[in-house]
Amino acid sequence: MTILSRCIVIMSGVLLFSSQFPIFSTTTTATQKTHRFACHVIPRQSLNQTTPPDQQSPNPKTILSTITNLLWGQSLPPGLLISTVRTTWNSTWQLMMSQLAPSDSSGRYTRPASKFRLNPPFTLQNSTTLHLYVGLPCPWAHRTLIVRALKGLEDAVPVSIAGPGQDGSWEFKDIPISNRDRNILVPGRDNANGCRNLKGVYGLRRSGGYSGRATVPMLWDVEKKEVGCNESYDIIEFFNSGLNGLARNPGLDLSPKELKGKIGEWNGLIYPNVNNGVYRCGFAQSQDAYDSAVNGLFTTLEAVEDHLTTSRYLCGDTLTLADVCLFTTLIRFDIVYNVLFKCTKKKLIEYPNLHGYMRDIYQMPKVAETCNFSAIMDGYYKVLFPLNPGSICPVMPSGCEHDVLLSTPHNRESLSLANKTTKQDH
Ligand SMILES: *[C@@H]1O[C@H](CO)[C@@H](O)[C@H](O)[C@H]1NC(C)=O
Ligand SMILES: *[C@@H]1O[C@H](CO)[C@@H](O)[C@H](O)[C@H]1NC(C)=O
Ligand SMILES: *[C@@H]1O[C@H](CO)[C@@H](O)[C@H](O)[C@H]1NC(C)=O
Ligand SMILES: *[C@@H]1O[C@H](CO)[C@@H](O)[C@H](O)[C@H]1NC(C)=O
Ligand SMILES: *[C@@H]1O[C@H](CO)[C@@H](O)[C@H](O)[C@H]1NC(C)=O
Ligand SMILES: *[C@@H]1O[C@H](CO)[C@@H](O)[C@H](O)[C@H]1NC(C)=O
Repeated sequence: MTILSRCIVIMSGVLLFSSQFPIFSTTTTATQKTHRFACHVIPRQSLNQTTPPDQQSPNPKTILSTITNLLWGQSLPPGLLISTVRTTWNSTWQLMMSQLAPSDSSGRYTRPASKFRLNPPFTLQNSTTLHLYVGLPCPWAHRTLIVRALKGLEDAVPVSIAGPGQDGSWEFKDIPISNRDRNILVPGRDNANGCRNLKGVYGLRRSGGYSGRATVPMLWDVEKKEVGCNESYDIIEFFNSGLNGLARNPGLDLSPKELKGKIGEWNGLIYPNVNNGVYRCGFAQSQDAYDSAVNGLFTTLEAVEDHLTTSRYLCGDTLTLADVCLFTTLIRFDIVYNVLFKCTKKKLIEYPNLHGYMRDIYQMPKVAETCNFSAIMDGYYKVLFPLNPGSICPVMPSGCEHDVLLSTPHNRESLSLANKTTKQDH
């Protein structure tokens, strides 16, 4: 056998194994269509799956040497070993990425353009019928937790928190939540349906099961036994204005009529370039695709940084849904996207206005409680297998310790105060 054909033998072996994983069973088009504002877990796959079941804790080195022994006999020249591994790994990576992150012919990650539906087509009557499913690492789910907290909807909309599981699904843990912990956001049981994983919940739909991927956030209609909504933006709009009869803070309006235009403009810029932009960097499958994603991301961050010199929030003095959407990406930026998704041109901490703005929002009552950095780090570094096969969490540079940094004063009140004073003077 030539070296090439030997490599091909190994590769086909790897591809064969890959096809067993659940993630590969969905088609690319389905993936593209259904993942606008939702998180799915990408399974962590380990090389030990290639070993016989009786081997308890297999070592990748053993597997590799078994394969190479098989093909070449006892000793494989180091140069050949390296090139074989490189080719095998590259092909596996290409395959996984093409399945996990649908891309166009030039390797650009393609999530369909966002649709910000201002009048969600769903109707949900009242509290007794609602239940929210989230996962803590997911930025789209995080939006719903923030708006739920700010509006005081904790009692009206109970939540169940899933964690990323080994087999590629959102799983619940069999940990009962005591009354004391009710408002602490930790992964636990499915409090509405008692399912073991989120797929099970989707499967309970009265209108007839579900075979696609089970994503968070998901608002469940208990009464109808139906997915009420699984588009994060629709959920936060609904939380903002659709449940005021039950909210403890009904006066807060994160999407006032007079700002809807501005909010839409910001969303239209921030969604493709920042929220989804970081994913386009991380899942790019060609240098060109990566270059253009990174360029769009940082050009937009620079523009927002400029804007925030004079404006406390995106749309002026008041926090809006556009800020909530930007915030959940910013809070993950230095600890995850900068490293794992190669959003490396700058760290967020190098943008004084953006960083101050992030701290401003973080320090609002009840927002910090929705941010769990160890859950975020674990979620991204341990689950996104093709991007971080060793599952090793990196150390952050000193000065970037998130919780310490985030509690430093932001001094951004002065921006709104300055304008108020000016207005009064007139
Ligand atoms: C939301 O749930 C519906 C089923 O009710 C499903 O068809 C759709 O693909 C899901 N969307 C996302 C983004 O997961
Ligand atoms: C692979 O290894 C991990 C930890 O090393 C273990 O939790 C898992 O059960 C193993 N999977 C199989 C299929 O042996
Ligand atoms: C990886 O594979 C792709 C496509 O199969 C190829 O274009 C690329 O040159 C390979 N890269 C390396 C480093 O082998
Ligand atoms: C909520 O919905 C349930 C079931 O549809 C109904 O019995 C109840 O009266 C409703 N409560 C309110 C406050 O509307
Ligand atoms: C304050 O006033 C300046 C100039 O009039 C304006 O550009 C800026 O958006 C205002 N800031 C806020 C927070 O309203
Ligand atoms: C953060 O999430 C982890 C699970 O990933 C959980 O064990 C931990 O208790 C949470 N921490 C806080 C402060 O809620």
